[in-house]
Parts: sequence; structure tokens; C-alpha cells
Amino acid sequence: MGTVRHFRVWRGDESGGQLEDFQVEVNEGEVVLDIIHRLQATQTPDLAVRWNCKAGKCGSCSMEINGKPRLGCMTRMSTFGEGETVTVTPVRTFPIIRDLVTDVSFNYQKARELPAFEPPKDLQPGEYRMQQIDVERSQEFRKCIECFLCQNVCHVIRDHEENKPTFSGPRFFIRAAELDMHPLDERENRKEMAQQEQGLGYCNITKCCTEVCPEHIKITDNAIIPMKERVVDRKYDPIVWLGRKIFRR
Ligand code: SF4
Ligand code: F3S
Ligand code: FES
Repeated sequence: MGTVRHFRVWRGDESGGQLEDFQVEVNEGEVVLDIIHRLQATQTPDLAVRWNCKAGKCGSCSMEINGKPRLGCMTRMSTFGEGETVTVTPVRTFPIIRDLVTDVSFNYQKARELPAFEPPKDLQPGEYRMQQIDVERSQEFRKCIECFLCQNVCHVIRDHEENKPTFSGPRFFIRAAELDMHPLDERENRKEMAQQEQGLGYCNITKCCTEVCPEHIKITDNAIIPMKERVVDRKYDPIVWLGRKIFRR
């Protein structure tokens, strides 16, 4: 037998909205997405939410739970105290479509702007060979499930809409780093592109992206800082110096 808990859920669309209060049953072992589904089934059938796998692998169910960017399907209700109200709002950095669903097409636009893997012209598919150590180096970045929680939390665009055209965000810094480390990628200027076209210089290494990543990718330490360091081989960047002194663990 479950307990009844207090939930607050943001309802609305691009023209505005508000938090609505619900009393809802919660059972042992359930996650926040289960409760959203129960609300749909019992009290609010038109509540919009995006989800797919319910296993932390598709990256669809990104939302903010008590103000923290998280996956709804991976956030257990036992995370919260018995009497605690659980407040669920849409991710803040992207435009609202309806209720908990946002328009994340900003990210697809940024993905398109990044030049694809460019293999050596004399090799055919099936002839690519890499050392295991090179495979392992970029393996971490390939765990990305494109939940865009890192994009959502980064203050460079979360608080500054005007930076969106010139800032690709942490998810695409790891993609650039992955390709930069790829021994068969023929494109040589990935670091310079990151600096000049992806807005790497805006990042001041706050590490909020790393903190929210459900795949525990060390976005800042393993992608952003190495990219910045290698860019400044040619160009002095005080943020890197500061990052090394203060943040590097
Ligand atoms: Fe999500 Fe992590 Fe990928 Fe960012 S890097 S989109 S937080 S999985
Ligand atoms: Fe943003 Fe991550 Fe840099 S949160 S400022 S991209 S360290
Ligand atoms: Fe797929 Fe949550 S539903 S990650």
C-alpha cells in the first residue's frame, strides 16, 4: 500500500502557465516519471511529458525536479523526504511547447553545425584500424544519451538567450573533443573551430554540466579543459590558467 504525496507540476504553454498541486499515490521503488504517469492515468490525462525508454538510456525525460535538472525515469521518489513536496518543471533553457515538453531543436541545430568525422580518403569502410588505447580515450564521450541536461544547466545560455547563436554547449564540446582525439579523423582544426565557432571561450569551467550528467561523463576535466589547453598552446587564455589553479582535481 502506497502513501499519498504532494506533487506540484508546471502546466502551460509558450504563452504562460503555473504550478498545479496534486495529491497522488506513491509506492515503494517508484521514480518521478511513474508518478507523472499516474497523474496522467488518474487526474490529468492531458499532462504533456516526453519519455521513451524508462531506463535512463533515451535521454527524453529531462526535467527539473525541485529545481535540479534530472532524468524523471532515474529519480527515485525515495530521494525525497516523506513530507517533502516534489515540484516538477520543464527544463528552463529551451522554449516551452506544453507542460513538461520543451523544444530542444537548438541542440540539433548545433549538431548540424559540427563537421562530421572525416576518415582518410584512401580507406574504405571496413578498413579502419585503431589502437585499443585510442578507442578507450573517446569511449567515455560516446556514452552521451543526448538528454541535454548539461546544455540546460550551463549558465552561458541558461541565463543569456543572446549567447545561443554563438555557443554550442558542453554536449558539443565533448563531440568535438571525441573527434579531435580520433586517430583517423583527417580534419585538423577541431580545437580552433571549438574556440572560434562553438564558443568554447565562453565556458568559464563552472562544472555544472559535469555535475548533472546522468552518464557521469567528466565533461569539464576530460573534454573542455584539454581542448582549452591545446588551443592556448597558441593563444593565452586566462580562464585556463585559473581553471588549472583552482578547479583541477
Ligand atoms: Fe546528457 Fe551527459 Fe550527454 Fe550532456 S553529456 S547530453 S548531460 S548524457
Ligand atoms: Fe558551462 Fe560546463 Fe563550461 S556548465 S561554463 S560548459 S564547465
Ligand atoms: Fe528514457 Fe528517461 S525515459 S531516459
